[in-house]
Amino acid sequence: MANVKLTDVKKIYDKNVVAVHDFNLEIKDKEFVVFVGPSGCGKSTTLRMIAGLEDISEGTVEIDGEVVNDLQPKDRDIAMVFQNYALYPHMTVYDNIAFSLRLKKVPEDEVYEKVTNAANVLGITEYLMRKPRALSGGQRQRVAIGRAMVRNAKVFLMDEPLSNLDAKLRNQMRAEIILLRQKLDTTFVYVTHDQTEAMTLGDRIVIMQNGYIEQVGTPMEVFEMPTNLFVAEFIGAPKMNTFKTKLIEEGGKYYVTPFGSKIEVNGIKGDMLRERNVKSQNIILGVRPEHISLAENGGEDTIPCTLEVNEMMGSELHLHVVTEDGSHLIVRTPTVDLDADARRELVYGKKLNITFEGKVMHFFGEEDNRNLLV
Ligand SMILES: Nc1ncnc2c1ncn2[C@@H]1O[C@H](COP(=O)(O)OP(=O)(O)OP(=O)(O)O)[C@@H](O)[C@H]1O
Ligand SMILES: [Mg+2]
Repeated sequence: MANVKLTDVKKIYDKNVVAVHDFNLEIKDKEFVVFVGPSGCGKSTTLRMIAGLEDISEGTVEIDGEVVNDLQPKDRDIAMVFQNYALYPHMTVYDNIAFSLRLKKVPEDEVYEKVTNAANVLGITEYLMRKPRALSGGQRQRVAIGRAMVRNAKVFLMDEPLSNLDAKLRNQMRAEIILLRQKLDTTFVYVTHDQTEAMTLGDRIVIMQNGYIEQVGTPMEVFEMPTNLFVAEFIGAPKMNTFKTKLIEEGGKYYVTPFGSKIEVNGIKGDMLRERNVKSQNIILGVRPEHISLAENGGEDTIPCTLEVNEMMGSELHLHVVTEDGSHLIVRTPTVDLDADARRELVYGKKLNITFEGKVMHFFGEEDNRNLLV
């Protein structure tokens, strides 16, 4: 069991490509931390530096208080699962899982004990005598995880382990990783570009962009208080609606004025603006699709718009609407909130009024894109 600490870690590839800048993070013992961000942001590079598969250009990586910069991967007590599993095709599942133990000359009865135990936890006992080619993608994935499990590693590193699986299997394996995590009770660092995976798996999420950490927080923290516009738009699906507008302070109350409306910032967000004495200014306003509602009548606090696309997702509708000045927004509405007649009317060209409350608004500086309330 172990904690992992990265201090001012930097990765410079040849030709001065800086893949990771000043990465600082302390991962606690038994914590599940997810690195998430768009392609090329430096997730794998950071993970590979922890694993010892990539030199650390500057800074230190510590495992359990010991600087491991110069330790070989095999001496770091880590186990790693990659996207492409990398199983030995000519060996059975049993032999694949046993491989690292036999390298270490572990006695065969102990190998048997460990392999059957891992297979049991992963539900692959009946495939132990098969070769990898006779397994489905999800089953191969489990063998790869089994191989990592038997090594009793202090830290479990996973780089996009589910990205080769179809959507249904990915959801199933995601749940299995949550279960596995409870059974193994070890430290996990998990890389993905999928925000849903990050949100559902992580105790804490590290959101990266262009080699920089944008925010570290629990799933709830990054969802409710994104530090900047990038995080706000990256976390949550469909993504947060954002638009330029004004924040106005008037007689102790705050208002926003998107698309000609005037909506009071009520609730906790209004209180926070008052506490911090935020001045009237141009802002970028963010509102998540699920926080916009359809208004019965068009008052000052509603925004008139026209429906373009109605995506029926089953339990909810995703309404793509256009405002009078041509801005596109997405509104997410639970299907049960609408009766059959109302649902039938939601077709191309339908005029709607939308609104939202103060407590679900996010305010970002027009210049620096930073959350005004963080
Ligand atoms: N061996 C290398 N030499 C030079 N540049 C590299 C090398 N490996 C990665 N890079 C660059 O470093 C940056 C970070 O790459 P990295 O693989 O860490 O990204 P990632 O976040 O894992 O992306 P993805 O989601 O696509 O896997 C990218 O700009 C990439 O092109
Ligand atoms: Mg990667």
